Amino acid sequence: MLAVSLEDPDPLAWTLYGGKGTIAGVILIFLLLIFLTGPTRRKIRWPLLYLVLHLVLLALRLPLPDGPLRATLKFIALFLLFSSLGLSLFLLITSSRLSRLFMPALPQIFLDIAHGFVYVIAFLIALGTEGVSPAELFAGSALLTAVIGLSLRDTLGNLFAGLAIHAQRPFEVGDWIQFNQDVTQIGQVVEINWRATKVLTQDRIEIVVPNGLLAQTPIINYSRPEATARRTVYVHAPYDAPPQQVKAIILAALADIPGVLAEPAPSVTTSGFDERGVQICVRFFINEFGARGKLESAVRDRIWYALARHGIDIPVPPRAVRVHKAGKRDVSRREEGRIARQERALGCVDFFDQLPDAARRRLAGRAQTRLYAQHEVIVRQAEKGDELFIILVGAVVVEVAPPGEEPVEVSRLGPGNFFGEMAALTGETRRATVRATRECELLVVGKAALAEVFETSPELAEHVSQTIARRQANLNEQLLEHPAPTPHAVAEHSHHLLQRIKEFFSM
Ligand code: CMP
Repeated sequence: MLAVSLEDPDPLAWTLYGGKGTIAGVILIFLLLIFLTGPTRRKIRWPLLYLVLHLVLLALRLPLPDGPLRATLKFIALFLLFSSLGLSLFLLITSSRLSRLFMPALPQIFLDIAHGFVYVIAFLIALGTEGVSPAELFAGSALLTAVIGLSLRDTLGNLFAGLAIHAQRPFEVGDWIQFNQDVTQIGQVVEINWRATKVLTQDRIEIVVPNGLLAQTPIINYSRPEATARRTVYVHAPYDAPPQQVKAIILAALADIPGVLAEPAPSVTTSGFDERGVQICVRFFINEFGARGKLESAVRDRIWYALARHGIDIPVPPRAVRVHKAGKRDVSRREEGRIARQERALGCVDFFDQLPDAARRRLAGRAQTRLYAQHEVIVRQAEKGDELFIILVGAVVVEVAPPGEEPVEVSRLGPGNFFGEMAALTGETRRATVRATRECELLVVGKAALAEVFETSPELAEHVSQTIARRQANLNEQLLEHPAPTPHAVAEHSHHLLQRIKEFFSM
């Protein structure tokens, strides 16, 4: 090092080469090692690499005679030293633990630009030490300026567009945007840097859109002015179903879909009449734009189940029709199959297995099957209802909300189990909310069918009252932590219930 300083009398070069520049570089790298934590620590390798290369070039330069090669090596060595110092300072100011105490996190684009300036300034200072002033450099050659200007045109365009995006904030990281007609390219902004904006689509594909392009196209921002976005799905109803009835069914079906907002409320309108039927437009609000596909699907599913329960078929487009005349025998065979299946299901309910075969068969004939979607509420606590449900396929969860408290799960029921008997048989309001945990096919027995059964088998009422009394005791024990009732108390309750059933069914 001493040899270098002797043969190179330039005072600036001497202090830098001889030690102060290198020592400052080493000290800064030590400071970085102390103050940089986490993944940003990996960035230390760059100033370190520049410092090492700087020393390597100095060593290479030593044996060379004076001349252009020696001067060039000196210039590059200086540039590397200034880059190392500049970069270390930049990292200390923007990424260290210290800086986080005093400064909010800066947007990536500003960091990128400042990072670029570190090299530009290092280059200009290195030139300065060689006696070339930056003004001379650009004014000296109009051709050079033109070449640089032309080659940087797009890059500078993107840079300034990026700065404009930060100044105007038409979108921010995390927003869902659409920047062209292709809806598959709607995505969430994950990064805005000095050149481009990165957008992650729902297919988990990253699109890098140059900022210049974004500055020239209209951008649809689905996350502004607020995260709430309206979605629309269309459904067709047959002409023989009154539109107002269909709309009421659909509105009721939209309640309780997780992710579909209750406020602003969904709306259903008749949007047209076409060859398929009455076109119904269903609008609802969500605040999780990324889940829009899943939520639209959930809405369509709910509508399907609700319409199916009301016997309303979604019409298909008219096509060539092939008429197949089902013979009377076919129809009655199908009907018999349905009744036999429902009769078997009734046989699984402990109080119906006591019924004489003929009465059970009649009851099966009067019952109907209904489908419910996953998560759909079948009966709601405190509401009125006079239907009893038997699970043919699927599973449900029974939840009870004590006054002013969150619902508590009290039971899970599967195929062969029944529920809804408490309200259906006594006329009281529902004691619990029963929700489908999977798609459910249920056998539904209404009050009229039950009344007929009690007429033919009055003794059944007693058996039923005993079952209900046992269930209610179980409920009180689990929920209200009442001690298990004595058999005498259950018998008394059962007697009381029997009176209520008799009253309710005018027996
Ligand atoms: P109902 O009150 O008509 O409506 C809610 C139904 O949940 C209720 O009838 C019972 O069928 C059912 N239910 C309530 N508590 C329990 C329980 N502890 N175990 C099983 N089912 C229950």
